[in-house]
Amino acid sequence: KEWKCLFDTTLNTLEVVKMTNKTEDVYSRKSKLKQGGGPKRIEKQHAQGKLTARERLALLFDEGSFRETGLFVKHRCTDFGMEEAETPGEGVVTGYGTVDGRLVYAYAQDFTVLGGSLGAMHAQKITSVMDLALKMGAPVVGMNDSGGARIQEGVDALSGYGSIFYRNTISSGVIPQISAIMGPCAGGAVYSPAITDFTFMVDKTSQMFITGPQVIKTVTGEDISSEALGGAMAHNAISGVAHFVSANDEACIQEVKRLLSFLPSNNLETSPLVETNDDLNRIEEKLDDIVPENPNKAYDVKEIIQIIADNNDFMETQPYYAKNIVTGFIRINGQTIGVIANQPRHLAGCLDIDASDKSSRFIRTCDCFNIPLLNLVDVPGFLPGSGQEHGGIIRHGAKMLFAYSEATVPKVTLILRKAYGGAYLGMCSKELGADVVLAWPTAEIAVMGPDGAANIIFKREIENADNPEEERKAKIEEYKEKFSNPYVAAARGFVDDIIEPSITRPILAGAFEMLTSKRETRPAKKHGNLPV
Ligand code: HXC
Repeated sequence: KEWKCLFDTTLNTLEVVKMTNKTEDVYSRKSKLKQGGGPKRIEKQHAQGKLTARERLALLFDEGSFRETGLFVKHRCTDFGMEEAETPGEGVVTGYGTVDGRLVYAYAQDFTVLGGSLGAMHAQKITSVMDLALKMGAPVVGMNDSGGARIQEGVDALSGYGSIFYRNTISSGVIPQISAIMGPCAGGAVYSPAITDFTFMVDKTSQMFITGPQVIKTVTGEDISSEALGGAMAHNAISGVAHFVSANDEACIQEVKRLLSFLPSNNLETSPLVETNDDLNRIEEKLDDIVPENPNKAYDVKEIIQIIADNNDFMETQPYYAKNIVTGFIRINGQTIGVIANQPRHLAGCLDIDASDKSSRFIRTCDCFNIPLLNLVDVPGFLPGSGQEHGGIIRHGAKMLFAYSEATVPKVTLILRKAYGGAYLGMCSKELGADVVLAWPTAEIAVMGPDGAANIIFKREIENADNPEEERKAKIEEYKEKFSNPYVAAARGFVDDIIEPSITRPILAGAFEMLTSKRETRPAKKHGNLPV
């Protein structure tokens, strides 16, 4: 009779407790705190199409596995009437549990409590789970839904943000850190997600900006809505701040879980192997003619990635940003592989500033989490133009060279078609440390495209010919004949093998298996100096 089963309907956790007067008190306090800002504010949250912090955590964690930390934490502010203010859970729910059986830490800001605003103790709850996660070597998922620094707490709130940014940085490259923006994320608050590895946004209900529309209007006179300024698509398609967009909270959390399945728990582990029933020796004749004969015709490189992947499963990162380069995760033989591929469908697959930024960040993310790299190359060069030059393509493009050279994970490069000039190096050639370089028979590996090359080296012959146009065409053909193939590069050992496209999956599976035990050491240093 003394024992009572208490079931938390939101988190689906069951607690069997011996009921005495004291425990009765504990549980009535707990239950009050767990109601956050109360039914009215929860209703408002739902009416906006948003879930509450607890509902979000319940979706993230395996049923019944979540253990909450710091539920009783209270703020210490006594200014602006705050001594009377109750802030259940301090406006953030923190704790740990399992996702697909693996330990994960999380925090979810509770907008129903003072708009999820961040004060000193709110921040302390977050940094406590971050500290545990770092010590335990497990990922942290942060769900952001907040009006920013709690204005009443002033500099204490700023200090709270500082302590989060510091920990984000110290944990970077040690444990995966994932941010889900599920409401407002304004002011300096945006910098925590920006330091983390991946940022998800929910369409229409999330916004990120340093200065909001009102401030912009006052300072510059510009009129812009918060959605256009910092909505999910603004950051997925234009700024590149976010990596994923989801239709609603449920879909967002499912995608967070999917991403976690591709990642290891920390930098000392490898990603979990996912058993596959997909035939490793799958021959795909479709690949034999996926690259058009006409070198100026485009095709969708994502099709190739999907065909190669176990069960055609490809989780693309930043699909709306710098579409001329495709990045994301697949598995081959159950092992996570990070793919970087030029996309001939956009800007002919040229590398530009945004593509360099997107891919170098992705390469470094894979490298710090022991995820092997597959580079699919069809690149005519760096995008020409004063916009690119003055925007610093030299500095940004250098990041790719740096990131590939620095990466010590297994690196396999497959040249599908064009591999011209500096961009050939930029897509991880042998010199940048590719362990295996393969080419399809359609590969063209040269210092530059045949048209440009013929115009330079045969300039005099063309000018002096009776029919310069005919001569130009003939010289372009001559250059193509000599260099528009993979054999010259293979003869010099820059390409290890030329393979039939249809057998790409088995060949890649073999290459990555061979590279499983790769160990590569570098000179001791504090850290390299990436050209940021
Ligand atoms: C204290 C806050 C708050 C904040 C919201 N609230 N933001 N309390 N500090 N920063 C409170 C509101 O007073 C309200 O309390 C409740 O949360 C819900 O807010 P509403 O305004 O009713 O909600 P909504 O209409 O949905 O608007 C949401 C919002 C708006 C757009 C986020 O609240 C807003 O503009 N807030 C201020 C944003 C801001 O300027 N933040 C400071 C940025 S400076 P009641 O009791 O009425 O329910 C900053 C610096 C950080 O963050 C630097 C770090 C380096």
